[in-house]
Amino acid sequence: MLPPILQGLRIPVIASPMFIVSGPDLVIAQCKAGIVGSFPALNAREKDGEPPLLDAWLTRIEEELDRHNQSHPDHPAAPFAVNQIVHRSNARLERDIEICHRHKVAIWITSLGARVEVNQAAHDCGGIALHDVINNGFAKKAIEKGADGLIAVAAGAGGHAGPQSPFALIQEIRDWWDGPLLLSGSIATGRAVLAAQVMGADLAYIGSPFIATTEAQADPAYKQMIVDSGAMDIVASSLFTGVSGNYLAPSIRRAGLDPEALAAADARAMNFGDGSSKPKAWSTIWGAGQGIGAVREVEPAGARIDRLAAEYVAAKEAVSRL
Ligand SMILES: Cc1cc2nc3c(=O)[nH]c(=O)nc-3n(C[C@H](O)[C@H](O)[C@H](O)COP(=O)(O)O)c2cc1C
Repeated sequence: MLPPILQGLRIPVIASPMFIVSGPDLVIAQCKAGIVGSFPALNAREKDGEPPLLDAWLTRIEEELDRHNQSHPDHPAAPFAVNQIVHRSNARLERDIEICHRHKVAIWITSLGARVEVNQAAHDCGGIALHDVINNGFAKKAIEKGADGLIAVAAGAGGHAGPQSPFALIQEIRDWWDGPLLLSGSIATGRAVLAAQVMGADLAYIGSPFIATTEAQADPAYKQMIVDSGAMDIVASSLFTGVSGNYLAPSIRRAGLDPEALAAADARAMNFGDGSSKPKAWSTIWGAGQGIGAVREVEPAGARIDRLAAEYVAAKEAVSRL
């Protein structure tokens, strides 16, 4: 049984948080269209001496979704989630936790580290914590530390993808975990959302297709590269952040590097600092998962979600005839 906050979505989808790309415009559009929208807390970066931008973003998202709910009582917005990068180099973590706690954020997504205090903070303000994992060992640790649900990040995902097949990962986790389970990695159609559920996940977790939306905070050339590229254009490399991630080969070429000949990097090089030290990796070398072959145009997030919803219904009908 899913926690109440994850029930009643238009389709069983959470839009994943994406460094630089996800901001309030995208989150608001995703939630209004009926799926959980999310953003990394680190994306909200104020200039020195200014009040925390995260506070302002949360207030704006809450107010716009409230207004939407008052004028559309029949189609209320889905809830939103905030992602915390729980890595020792994230110097803002404590401050960002305090702000999310004060705003009573309902869904917390944690990545790159499972920590009891973060889960406690989520619970303390009435929220749930979903932790992203790339293997069964990390999944067990995350639940031991108090996460309420798991996000299985399989091969082919954008950003820091795992190396495992989604079949293997979901099967091993479902063997012992009957709580909320999300699957991510190359999910880009309604049919793939249904497939994730058939495999044993409760919800699909979708990122890269939302880069090519009008609301995404991405360079227009990045959005167009998503439209023009397919799975063959995605390369995995640890060079840019210290851990393996999936990137668009044309963006690597644009930066003057050969995507076929990238050196490996040291995991200790990973540094989120105050959130300002690593955008280079993501702002010139563009991340994406293998599912982008399904993305044919840059369009509003709401239009993409309408299509996903229609495809999901059609897929269910098709499957019922098998
Ligand atoms: C450009 C980009 C940036 C990402 N940044 C983050 C991030 O800041 N935090 C996080 O937890 N996951 C991040 N991810 C991973 C996504 O949350 C998610 O696992 C992934 O997008 C799912 O695979 P898909 O892109 O194939 O749908 C990022 C993914 C992309 C493509």
